[in-house]
Amino acid sequence: MAGILSGAPESLLAFVYLVAGILFIQGLRDMTHPRTATRGNQISSVGMFLAVGITVLWFEILSPVVLAAALLVGGAIGAWLAVTVETTEMPQLVGLFNGFGGGASALVAGAELVDQFNLLGASVTLPLGLTATAAIAGIIGSVTFWGSLVAAGKLHGLVGDSPVSANTGHGLKIVSLLVAVLAGLFLILQPEFLGTAPLASWIPSYWALVVAASLLGVFLVVPIGGADMPVVIALLNSYSGLAAATTGFVLNNSVLIIAGTLVGASGLILTVIMCESMNRSLTNVLFGGFGESGETEDMEDIYEGNITETSPEEVVMLLEIAQRVVLVPGYGMAVAQAQHAFAELAELLEENDVDVEFGIHPVAGRMPGHMNALLAEADVSYEKMRELEEVNPTFSKTDVVIISGANDVVNPLANTDESSPIAGMPVLNVSEAQNVIVNKRSLSPGFSGVPNPLFANDNTSMLFGDAKQSIQDLVGEYKERTS
Ligand code: TAP
Repeated sequence: MAGILSGAPESLLAFVYLVAGILFIQGLRDMTHPRTATRGNQISSVGMFLAVGITVLWFEILSPVVLAAALLVGGAIGAWLAVTVETTEMPQLVGLFNGFGGGASALVAGAELVDQFNLLGASVTLPLGLTATAAIAGIIGSVTFWGSLVAAGKLHGLVGDSPVSANTGHGLKIVSLLVAVLAGLFLILQPEFLGTAPLASWIPSYWALVVAASLLGVFLVVPIGGADMPVVIALLNSYSGLAAATTGFVLNNSVLIIAGTLVGASGLILTVIMCESMNRSLTNVLFGGFGESGETEDMEDIYEGNITETSPEEVVMLLEIAQRVVLVPGYGMAVAQAQHAFAELAELLEENDVDVEFGIHPVAGRMPGHMNALLAEADVSYEKMRELEEVNPTFSKTDVVIISGANDVVNPLANTDESSPIAGMPVLNVSEAQNVIVNKRSLSPGFSGVPNPLFANDNTSMLFGDAKQSIQDLVGEYKERTS
């Protein structure tokens, strides 16, 4: 169908799509560093605005009233989410976005099949390229939609995330995959079987494929739990890109192919980085069932009689004589919004000639770069944020480590207990420092649900309390004693 600009030369459409593609690539490039990430986001948004704008003006996709209403409602929901969603809830929001991307791809591919069928009529065969790409987009898009809904539900606590035996779901996964693939083959090959195909067999085979792939998405993600969820979200992000790129082939739309490929590739790179950060293989994440091996040690046995409690006054006494201090933030710091207090403590220590750095674990918090983003918001310079490989060799030369709201990422069981669900995950070796202060509200476990023997170490003292209040207390006490 024709839109307002459809009379313009075809090259205009291609040119605007090309500009949008270049802006996406530049935007992604900028997003690789926290310093330029905001600019990257803005550049990509301009690219998306151009791509959507020219598409809407070129093709008459919907009646202008329906289109305006859709843009208004969608834009309003997006703005509301941007303002209200906490940074700690960002992973599930990203999960939802992935899901909607996948779902949209599956629906658009199906709609294009129906459209082409209506256009060409029952007497012609739909082109192989169209049916094949639609089948692929339908499968990947549906898996992404339902898998992402389950993943987002788990992260938001709406779907139980206790580890479920992976084996129970394997049969169901195989059956649903087989049905989806067979329906896809039928869709692609049916002219061979049936000659010109009646509508009754074209379209239902596509929707049968969608239903089977939807079930596959649910069966794939349900058994995965605990600390593997971020990897799943990143992988589904990649799937949503692949679905979009394939739908780009269905529609013969170059900007959709470019954008989808970029999302697919970046999601895959992120998945690999996260797997490495947790020392898990992708196969193990998808089919291993997190926590299955888990005979974890009893917390009571570990903590009984071995916990030393400390106070802000005692911690400040240690800080007064320290030459090097490492601050380790975790999920609890994000929940308490303690980053400003943490940054102020670092500044005060530096004013007193203490060498201060932040030790950042790649999966601390609930999303990649979570800690870096929060600390940057509190004006901590990027030079002060040390990655795991950089900071680990320095702990033995550190006088005091203050861990605020982190747990799994400093759990030594990852190095010592092969049966632990976090076995092999690289962790911050904080216990090598002279004094370790752990600030959290209780002895309860972190995201992976395993106890942390670090709390019972001889050189560890627990500073119990909310992260923001506790660090503010330290700041107040330090100011008082050093002024
Ligand atoms: P966790 O292991 O989840 O531990 C966070 C700790 O913060 C909890 O033990 C909790 O103890 C404490 N806490 C909560 N609210 C607090 C508050 N207001 N004040 C002080 N402490 C508070 O966090 P982590 O060490 O950052 O590790 C991250 C975990 O999440 C890893 O297992 C990782 O695999 C997983 N994960 C990561 C991501 C990404 S990509 N970063 C995404 C999803 C999941 P109390 O209740 O005793 O206070």
